[in-house]
Amino acid sequence: MIVLANDHAGIGLKREIAGLLDELQLPYKDLGTNSPESTDYPLWGYWAARTVKSGECDKGIVICGTGVGISLSANKVKGIRCVVCSDCYSAKMSREHNNANMLALGARVVGPDLAKMIVRVWLETPFEEGGRHQKRVDMIMGIEQGKEY
Ligand code: RB5
Repeated sequence: MIVLANDHAGIGLKREIAGLLDELQLPYKDLGTNSPESTDYPLWGYWAARTVKSGECDKGIVICGTGVGISLSANKVKGIRCVVCSDCYSAKMSREHNNANMLALGARVVGPDLAKMIVRVWLETPFEEGGRHQKRVDMIMGIEQGKEY
């Protein structure tokens, strides 16, 4: 299950991404917002991240104007590795090397077609298990737990 969440700036792009997930027959949970009223992106990042942390959803896609604010808030939830991507290479590497479990998109940065390509590659790319990448992801999670180097 994929969680989708966005602020007011992300509604249009969220609908495009939901359409892509429908096409790919991937189940998703749309937390909202679906109202054009101005709303606070930290809430949506946090609410989406909570569903990934709890295991209710495996992955999350969050959208605001830039993708920045909503990713910063999602990343404050322990266990979340949320990446803002505006290109397919970073999207692919964020899965292969960083095992990102959430993707943030900027609705005012990327157009719908590019955003859909980014989502596709991000969803279809597996993490390269084991080896140096696992060790480095473990280091990131260690920092989150207060480990010092
Ligand atoms: C809302 O205007 C905008 O600040 C928000 O969507 C996002 O870009 C914040 O990072």
